[in-house]
Amino acid sequence: GTGALMDGHKRRIDYLRLSITDRCNLRCVYCMPRGTVTFLRHEDILRYEEILRLVRVAVGLGIRKVRITGGEPFVRKDFLHLCSQITAIEALEDVSVTTNGLLLETYAQGLWDAGVRRINVSLDTLDREKYRRITGVDGFERVWAGIMRAHQVGHFPVKINVVALKGVNDDEVESLAGLTRDYPFHVRFIEFMPFRPDAFHDRYLSGDVVLERLQRLGALLPATSKNGNGPARYYQYPGAPGKVGIISPVSHHFCPTCNRLRVTAEGRLRTCLFSEEETDLRVLLRSDASDARLAAAILEATSHKPERHQMDEAITRKCISRPMSAIGG
Ligand code: GTP
Ligand code: 5AD
Ligand code: SF4
Repeated sequence: GTGALMDGHKRRIDYLRLSITDRCNLRCVYCMPRGTVTFLRHEDILRYEEILRLVRVAVGLGIRKVRITGGEPFVRKDFLHLCSQITAIEALEDVSVTTNGLLLETYAQGLWDAGVRRINVSLDTLDREKYRRITGVDGFERVWAGIMRAHQVGHFPVKINVVALKGVNDDEVESLAGLTRDYPFHVRFIEFMPFRPDAFHDRYLSGDVVLERLQRLGALLPATSKNGNGPARYYQYPGAPGKVGIISPVSHHFCPTCNRLRVTAEGRLRTCLFSEEETDLRVLLRSDASDARLAAAILEATSHKPERHQMDEAITRKCISRPMSAIGG
């Protein structure tokens, strides 16, 4: 690998988010409630060899960090094998996984052994019954056990992602943030983004409102150290081992510092979470196109990465064409 990958707005692009499956063992209300999505056919999603080739070509262009997401990555067969093949790519500095944690107790050790050193776990509530209402599955205890196992195994720096939902978990902001006083976890509150037409305005809670609630629990200090590659702003309660983060894509768009590309499960390159423009890399991967041809397609798409997202428009249109599970968070 050589050089740096730059987009048309002089942003350095070094982070690739890979969705390796659109399937999931949960049915979160804000993502894919039961009965609302149809899944891709197996032959339509990229094979592991195709994913690896794509990652190698992207690394050759300047990608240094890869995050593997879904859907839920652990539901795909031999996922740990893919992880160890990706972490073996020498020029990659950081390989991380985003998971809902349902299978984490079983796989945390394997994930560590496969060379993955960072995981983000989605958990919107600490209440078992509420968890079932949000996700459709009675899985809170399993996720919590998974987080504890990950914490024990090799001391993963666990991040917990909470989608802040008005009238659903806003009463738990303090208790979720309180975890950072007991554990070295980073608890991040994410603004609800309008991927589905229903109930966006009723449920949306801004990062500023979350921040106010966080201050009820105690003085919050801005945390300056760099924690990952993402857009979170971090804070800390004095003396707490963990940090609290706020991710506000809706109220404070962080596009000027965006460093990422995304590849969907079926091999489409998306240069922005909220852009409908996609480049079909699968068709190239399944033709006799060379690595150079593949690299040229990635470069071309990257040069057209939008300067900022058009979420406002998307909100007016009342939805984005695909759920988060198909884009890869
Ligand atoms: P690290 O900080 O390196 O751990 O990565 P990350 O925060 O990007 O990872 P994670 O998958 O946990 O992302 C957290 C959430 O932030 C995502 O699921 C999205 O909800 C939101 N997010 C991440 N990247 C973007 C982005 O480019 N645009 C928007 N609008 N939201 C994003
Ligand atoms: N708004 C904000 N975050 C979302 N996620 C899924 N759908 C949405 C949405 N509409 C989150 C998941 C997970 C991460 C990958 O994306 O909860 O933490
Ligand atoms: Fe699955 Fe994540 Fe979507 Fe929930 S938000 S249904 S865990 S992909």
